[in-house]
Amino acid sequence: MLRLLFSREEIRRAVERLGREIGREYQGKDTVLVGILKGSFIFLADLVRTLSIPVEIDFIRAASYGRGRVSTGEVSILKDIELSIQGRHVLIVEDIVDTGVTLKVIYDHLREKGPSSLKICALIDKKERREVEIGVDFAGFEVERGFLVGYGLDFDERYRYLPEIYILEES
Ligand code: IMP
Ligand code: MG
Repeated sequence: MLRLLFSREEIRRAVERLGREIGREYQGKDTVLVGILKGSFIFLADLVRTLSIPVEIDFIRAASYGRGRVSTGEVSILKDIELSIQGRHVLIVEDIVDTGVTLKVIYDHLREKGPSSLKICALIDKKERREVEIGVDFAGFEVERGFLVGYGLDFDERYRYLPEIYILEES
């Protein structure tokens, strides 16, 4: 069963606020946004259209949750970025940070490529199960618990297309 958590309007306001924060931070800097596939595709698309600064966009894909709700803890890079980020300012754009395991692997992987700065923007910062120390620099929403779907977030590839964010409840 799906229970509405964030409406389109709430999401729009959060994304616009993030856009303003990011615009202030990266004004005048050579900036690359790296979206983590697949979950961030809708968020990233909406986010870049709120920006008042030029950015370049790339994508990276890691195998994280696999299927279902339980993380395996093993993460591998399935698709790397294609732009050079050496000496550039890089902002990782993620849908949701849960344990932080996936993000940590991607963060360390991108760090190796020598960016001038490397920060993290997540639409949802879910703190309950954080296992690794990783700071979210720009967060749309903070959520304590629950499995969320919609607006790019999936459960076994379902519900990504929904324009709102829902809590998936056992029924
Ligand atoms: P982590 O490695 O535990 O932080 O998991 C990160 C990834 O797991 C996210 O990029 C999502 O793809 C997925 N994930 C974590 N929590 C949720 C959720 O509540 N709904 C949908 N996907 C989630
Ligand atoms: Mg994801």
